[in-house]
Amino acid sequence: MAKVTIDNIEIEVPDGTTILNAARMMGGESVPPAMCYHSKLQGSGGKCRTCLVKVTAGSAKDPRPMPKLVVSCSTPVQDGMIVQNITSPEVLEARRGVVEFLLINHPLDCPVCDQAGECSLQDLGYEHGLQRTRYEFERRTFDMIDIGEKIKLHMNRCILCYRCVYTANQITNGRVHGVISRGDHAEISTYIENVIDNDFSGNVIDVCPVGALTDRTARFANRVWFLKPMDAHRNCDKCCGKTVVWQKANEVIRVTGRKDKYGEIEEFICNTCRFDKKNVSDWTIEGPRAIESSSVISQNHYTNLHQMNASIKKLLLEKQTLQITK
Ligand code: SF4
Ligand code: FES
Repeated sequence: MAKVTIDNIEIEVPDGTTILNAARMMGGESVPPAMCYHSKLQGSGGKCRTCLVKVTAGSAKDPRPMPKLVVSCSTPVQDGMIVQNITSPEVLEARRGVVEFLLINHPLDCPVCDQAGECSLQDLGYEHGLQRTRYEFERRTFDMIDIGEKIKLHMNRCILCYRCVYTANQITNGRVHGVISRGDHAEISTYIENVIDNDFSGNVIDVCPVGALTDRTARFANRVWFLKPMDAHRNCDKCCGKTVVWQKANEVIRVTGRKDKYGEIEEFICNTCRFDKKNVSDWTIEGPRAIESSSVISQNHYTNLHQMNASIKKLLLEKQTLQITK
């Protein structure tokens, strides 16, 4: 076991645990954001640099600080290591820079993007982003491509996190897509636009942290915050059959895998469950999915709204009183 201190909180974790996972075991606000790491995908991480942290003491044996910020998703803890995340202004500044870089080519088309409301980059942008861009050059643009009958690739939105590539490599039998070219020419490609047509290909949609890969059977069908996410299951001979069914009244708008609180898939599901079972009668509904209260999808957001309305009313009353007094 190794003792590590993150943002002044000490935790003991098994040797070999990464700083990010140690922070996740601890929970709370000190957990660094992660766009490319995905706990179910071997080899993921190390691409986006949103999870940068500062190591102020490397270990009990060698307490020298690490000379540069490190990526927490790929750096293992050492006994006696001291790490700063939100307590370091340097980390927060670097993260703002990373978000600015990620947004250089990413279009701000959230009002029409299917991922809006559940997009990691949108959340990150709100927390760390600037309100304007300093980038003056032309953004790189690509035509939209259908990869298979059910998946749309909108390469303009891709942040090259490689999650979909690892998914295709690790949970399906044949590799049919990957990243071609390098630098600002790099793009996700199915080579000669081959279709991805295996039983688990739809999972690339769930792992994509932005709206680059979307479900063609549910594109533009509804905004995610108007839907009711329900935990549901069915007997499936290909996958676990445990999903989230997104309902509007009695209509099933889309089906996705279940994600944990870090937005990472708990178990991958097959294409039959995802694309072909769009009737409520296909599913045993377990109950409403618990969603983070800060999310726009949250079932509790009405409570927040009431609280917000109350404080807005109070502010308005104060303002009116002030005007009357004047
Ligand atoms: S398409 Fe999505 S999952 Fe794939 S590399 Fe781009 S951002 Fe990542
Ligand atoms: S999550 Fe660590 S580099 Fe992307």
